Amino acid sequence: MLHTPRDHLDLLIGWVAGADSAAQHWLGDVARKEPVDPRQVETLLRIDRGNRDKVMRALPDARRAQMAAPFWPSDGGPTSLLLVVEEATGRVAGLSQLTIGTERGNVMGGWLAPDFRGRGFGAEAARATLRFGHEHLGLEAVRAGTDPSNEASRRVLAATGFVPAAGPARHTLADGRVIDALWFEHAVARDATARCAAGAPAR
Ligand SMILES: CC(C)(COP(=O)(O)OP(=O)(O)OC[C@H]1O[C@@H](n2cnc3c(N)ncnc32)[C@H](O)[C@@H]1OP(=O)(O)O)[C@@H](O)C(=O)NCCC(=O)NCCS
Repeated sequence: MLHTPRDHLDLLIGWVAGADSAAQHWLGDVARKEPVDPRQVETLLRIDRGNRDKVMRALPDARRAQMAAPFWPSDGGPTSLLLVVEEATGRVAGLSQLTIGTERGNVMGGWLAPDFRGRGFGAEAARATLRFGHEHLGLEAVRAGTDPSNEASRRVLAATGFVPAAGPARHTLADGRVIDALWFEHAVARDATARCAAGAPAR
């Protein structure tokens, strides 16, 4: 299941889902967005529907107020953030992002928390993000880039119907590392876009 973060606690859990060194090897930037004590990461990733209120109550007042503040989707900006949530438990499994109008087009990306990798969530999240992009935002094409050696990412993209596309062969991650990059695109016919009136672009 995908939904927008409800508050800043949701958002923080989404960020830290990709903060481990294995994910950072591919992403190069996630932990910098929301610095968090590594000791808290495990607690955050164990939050589910049953213990969320208890964890929230245990926070110091100022931190609780910060975490409970509502998150407003994209704040008018180009990036949509979508939490990947395990439906049965309410645990945050990861975060998916879709940024429209970049120099490389409408670009999606994302990550899963370690417990949720290798279980098919990646393809499910990619399919749902594509649906959001095509049917809600009205995008005809969504692109994704990945390091050629990131087999899991490449296979998820292939499994969800992405096809190879042109794009820069090198990509600089936010931590300054330069990696090789392959680009893929998922396109649909114009009449398959914008089923949701709220997301329909001006035509
Ligand atoms: C990339 C990611 C989203 C993929 O989601 P996932 O649900 O974990 O994907 P899976 O582990 O099920 O792997 C997908 C496929 O790749 C295969 N695969 C995974 N790791 C592999 C490897 N090292 N070598 C070869 N194949 C591999 C799986 O067997 C699976 O194959 P299948 O489609 O035939 O079943 C997730 O692993 C993740 O968050 N990784 C860390 C962050 C990241 O790399 N983000 C993407 C940056 S572009």
